[in-house]
Amino acid sequence: MAASSARRILVTSALPYANGHIHLGHLVEYIQTDIFVRFQKLRGHRCIYLCADDTHGTAIMIRARAEGRSEQALIAAMREAHCNDFAGFRVAFDHYGSTDSPENRRLCGMIWQRLRDRGLVVSRGVEQLYDATAGVFLADRFVKGTCPKCGAADQYGDSCEKCGAAYAPGDLRDPASTLSGTRPEIRSAEHLFVTLEQMHGFLATWTRESGALDPRIANYLAGHFLGEELRDWDVSRPAPYFGFEIPDAPGHFWYVWFDAPIGYLAATSEWCAAHGGTLDDWWGRGGTNTPAAEIHHFIGKDITYFHTLFWPAMLEAAGLALPTKVRIHGFLTVNGEKMSKSRGTFLLARTYLDHLDPGMLRYFYAAKLSGGIDDIDLDLDEFATKVNADLVGKVVNLASRTARWLEATGLAAAYPDDGGLFARAAADGAEIAAAYEDCDTARAMRAIMAAADRANAYVDAEQPWKLAKAGPDAAAKLRDVASVALNLFRQLAVYLAPVLPTLAEQAGALVGGPIRVWDESQTPLVGLPVAAFQPLMNRVEKTQLEALLAAARAETVTDTPPQGAPQMDATPPTTATATEDSGAALAAEPLAAQCTIDDFAKVDLRVARILAAEEVPEAKKLLKLTISLGGDATRTVFAGIKGFHEPAALVGRLVVVVANLAPRQMKFGLSEGMVVAASGAGGPGVYLLAPDAGALPGMRLH
Ligand code: MSP
Ligand code: ZN
Repeated sequence: MAASSARRILVTSALPYANGHIHLGHLVEYIQTDIFVRFQKLRGHRCIYLCADDTHGTAIMIRARAEGRSEQALIAAMREAHCNDFAGFRVAFDHYGSTDSPENRRLCGMIWQRLRDRGLVVSRGVEQLYDATAGVFLADRFVKGTCPKCGAADQYGDSCEKCGAAYAPGDLRDPASTLSGTRPEIRSAEHLFVTLEQMHGFLATWTRESGALDPRIANYLAGHFLGEELRDWDVSRPAPYFGFEIPDAPGHFWYVWFDAPIGYLAATSEWCAAHGGTLDDWWGRGGTNTPAAEIHHFIGKDITYFHTLFWPAMLEAAGLALPTKVRIHGFLTVNGEKMSKSRGTFLLARTYLDHLDPGMLRYFYAAKLSGGIDDIDLDLDEFATKVNADLVGKVVNLASRTARWLEATGLAAAYPDDGGLFARAAADGAEIAAAYEDCDTARAMRAIMAAADRANAYVDAEQPWKLAKAGPDAAAKLRDVASVALNLFRQLAVYLAPVLPTLAEQAGALVGGPIRVWDESQTPLVGLPVAAFQPLMNRVEKTQLEALLAAARAETVTDTPPQGAPQMDATPPTTATATEDSGAALAAEPLAAQCTIDDFAKVDLRVARILAAEEVPEAKKLLKLTISLGGDATRTVFAGIKGFHEPAALVGRLVVVVANLAPRQMKFGLSEGMVVAASGAGGPGVYLLAPDAGALPGMRLH
């Protein structure tokens, strides 16, 4: 592509929260963005893909406390996990930062000063719920109580899931902190606000006329927010809070949603420090008000408000460039429903990678996404059928059934007559590129698969396997047919390269070298050597999907936050705070007499997985469990946990068992071991022990 037509494109995905792992819902966005970026690079444009972890806020602070480590230690560990997950799916950022960086703090200060200078910051008192036991102001998600409007119990502090009413946390009846269980008090604290209404005129025009938003989104904003006065935006939180302290308001911190989008700027600056240039090259407005570069934000529909009102207002007030496009996608459902821990469809990136090929999910999402805000569904049967039919049956198959005839001879010296197939698919390139540009990857995939169908029909008609048997007379024809097929395969690999980088690399290794530019789809290759064929991708088997779901179910149990803690993705699991622990348990049941390490070694404690759990109707306390010690070593154990655990919820979870306990004949059958659980003074509960994620059945406890 000529340098004069090369664009400069800055692309971002939303910054994932540092308090949870990446799941397949997140990946809709990161894969969609990565495809767009890889496409732009393949077209020869100057494109950088930036992201970062979103690290601040109450949720992280609470979780770090509960886990007994610093926020920094927690976010460092999570960052590593996020980066591994992204790399596993081949999501390739040019820079991955953190909102907890010095550069982000500096830029928050700069933007803050510009907001102050423009008279956009005001201060006033706010009443907020305060948990005196835990010593924190409670974010809405950490309070539950009875809806003041409809009386529904167990509702969050900001809105009722039953009747949809929105209210202030102070209006909730019988409020209880989900952290300590105590009744929060109402305390007043000063908060700082950005007076968005002063930007109303700008936002009304920008949302409609800039071309950054789909007209449907602009209409939604006009109907829901811009039709009335814009409410002041509360951008500060009093201590304690994990975030940046506001320089001119000691004891107050910027609210996480203030510093998070500024993370886009910080990531840019950090990238520039490593690769040259300045922030202004990307976010400056340019001399004549022509933007220095294109800026594309990819986000999910749930954070539309922040990216289409707050963020443009901040950029405008700070004199920075506005986004060229805010590209909004819908949510992922699995098997037609919201991902759910209890249904075992809450699929983490890591779990998927343990069982399936990442390219398959990339392709499936690409085939589903058409650039709009509709939700997309991952139906696992459809996934297997689609991936097997398209990727294995059409694309990979084209190479696997023709490449080997060329290992000895290489490609034909001149491109043979293929009835216009290559030229036709080359001509489709413009339409496929336009679809990628619009993020309508569904349309791009349809056009590519249509070309694959034509290529396979060609191979079916020419029957190279028959030519191979026909002896030396047919050798030239065989080489021609295989050369056509392999060229058509490589052409597909170029078109699919943004979606399937691994396949593109494999295709390059097979023939022609690395695929670097889109235009390689326009000219067939001749006379080149062909490498020995290596398997490219295998069919998805039903057993793999079953194993994936079983693994997701098992995780669900070990990952589930304790009762009462919110199940929302955006909120961390909490564990009992130190203040709840009065020491009663130890007092009521003092420690046993000392034992030696040899005494302890006699007890063989193992990790086991519960395969089945059923009630024993005649027994008041017992559940009958079938457990696995790994492989096909299974045992039957009667455990005194009835009433405390739902049998169905136990299936799949890992527990600890005394594996060498002498079997005991009971009224209901033989018990071959004991499941370890905590109980005793301090409460009536029976608490099963669960190992950290990663432990396997059969592992010994030392
Ligand atoms: N930290 C904020 C974003 C700050 S951007 C300055 C956040 N984080 S998130 O981890 O909750 O979500 C990250 C992105 O993933 C968001 O764009 C969100 O919409 C998207 N998704 C999270 N769950 C999703 C699905 N189940 N389906 C599709 N996208 C989803 O929001
Ligand atoms: Zn209600």
